[in-house]
Amino acid sequence: MKLVFATHNQNKVKEVQEMFPTQITLLSLNDIDCTEDIPETAHTLEGNAILKADYVFKKYGYPCFADDTGLLVDALNGAPGVYSARYAGEQRDAGDNVHKLLEELKGYAKRTARFETVIALNLNDEQHLFMGQVQGEITTKKSGQKGFGYDPIFRPKGYHQTFAELPLAIKNKISHRGKAINQLVTYLNSL
Ligand code: IMP
Repeated sequence: MKLVFATHNQNKVKEVQEMFPTQITLLSLNDIDCTEDIPETAHTLEGNAILKADYVFKKYGYPCFADDTGLLVDALNGAPGVYSARYAGEQRDAGDNVHKLLEELKGYAKRTARFETVIALNLNDEQHLFMGQVQGEITTKKSGQKGFGYDPIFRPKGYHQTFAELPLAIKNKISHRGKAINQLVTYLNSL
């Protein structure tokens, strides 16, 4: 079975590929020559994930899943949340986002946060949703070279390292997306 993962982010494809059974061929948007930026105009993670999965199924005809992730910081009342990618502006730059968050939290002792992921699967116009989250805290400075996005400043609960310092196999086991992908894989295996 060929299944599209509606993302241009090769880091995500690499993460997710490791969790998929070999009988499913995972295709990225680049693999199906979809170069456009799929609109993410909803105001919820769920809404955006559904928009992306439906867009690919309708335009390209492939079964498809899409994820949308938010980083919810307690001291900022859940910001940046659904706007995590554009937190520091439309350029969607990870370095700028990390810098802004560290500035916003300067002087805060309470730095708890969580990542939440929603995955929408569109299988021949049938919709399924899967969710995952991980609790942790925002560090006071960047550590680690692995991963992407906010990884260098997110330390999952129970660990001394940030996501950018932990091996990918551990991140996949405990992360928001890892948990949601696990549910997706379990569902696909049951078909
Ligand atoms: P998206 O919905 O996957 O595009 O993610 C929204 C924002 O959260 C982007 O700025 C991503 O870089 C960031 N993000 C998503 N997943 C992760 C992750 O696993 N670690 C760190 N940042 C992430």
